[in-house]
Amino acid sequence: MEKQVPHPKSQIAVLVSGHGRGSNFQAIVEAVESGPGPAHVRLLVSANAECGAVERAGSHGIETLVLSPKQFDSELAFDEAIAEAIASRGIELVCLAGYMRKLTPEFIRQFRNRIMNIHPALLPAFGGQGMYGLRVHEAVIESGAKFSGATVHFVDEEYDHGPIIAQAIVSVADDDTPQTLADRVLRAEHRIYPEAIALFAKGRLSVNGRRVRVNP
Ligand code: GAR
Repeated sequence: MEKQVPHPKSQIAVLVSGHGRGSNFQAIVEAVESGPGPAHVRLLVSANAECGAVERAGSHGIETLVLSPKQFDSELAFDEAIAEAIASRGIELVCLAGYMRKLTPEFIRQFRNRIMNIHPALLPAFGGQGMYGLRVHEAVIESGAKFSGATVHFVDEEYDHGPIIAQAIVSVADDDTPQTLADRVLRAEHRIYPEAIALFAKGRLSVNGRRVRVNP
């Protein structure tokens, strides 16, 4: 009888910065660590010791590297330290989850189509420099849009710009505040980010120009 050879799990690193809650990190960990999924969260890299993800990683026994940009002479040196940590652990996918720093072109080149980001709106609308957190939802409400949502995309050299992997739509209610809309979008984020990671880990994503195909 033919024996099934177990496929090694894709090793993932999650990058966070700022004062994020780490709720996407938590959603990723819970989804990928439950059952025989195709991925494993190997490393958390945080640009800030105080953020929620660091505490959450501790309680899940996930290796955590806190690197302060202040310890480095340049953005390039900072990103090189992260790249070295990732490459030396055989990590295949880097997931930004509330990582508000712009990655250097060198880092992006090294991990092209292997870095994902989650954004709390339907890109290509309501993205770009300065568009993060509640500002995004304020802009959506001000625009009068009836729908918003979440986008998972590969990262390229421009803010919130790389090829789109997955999106989820949520309604904008007449009485929404930026916070109520953010809460609704966040629930969608927690659903689609682990889904996109699983597709990557199963080798089902291919990128052609700006289009990402989900292969059967
Ligand atoms: C998430 O809403 C994510 O979409 C957003 O930061 C939040 C982090 O929350 N990212 C951006 O705005 C990137 N442009 P979390 O720490 O609870 O995961």
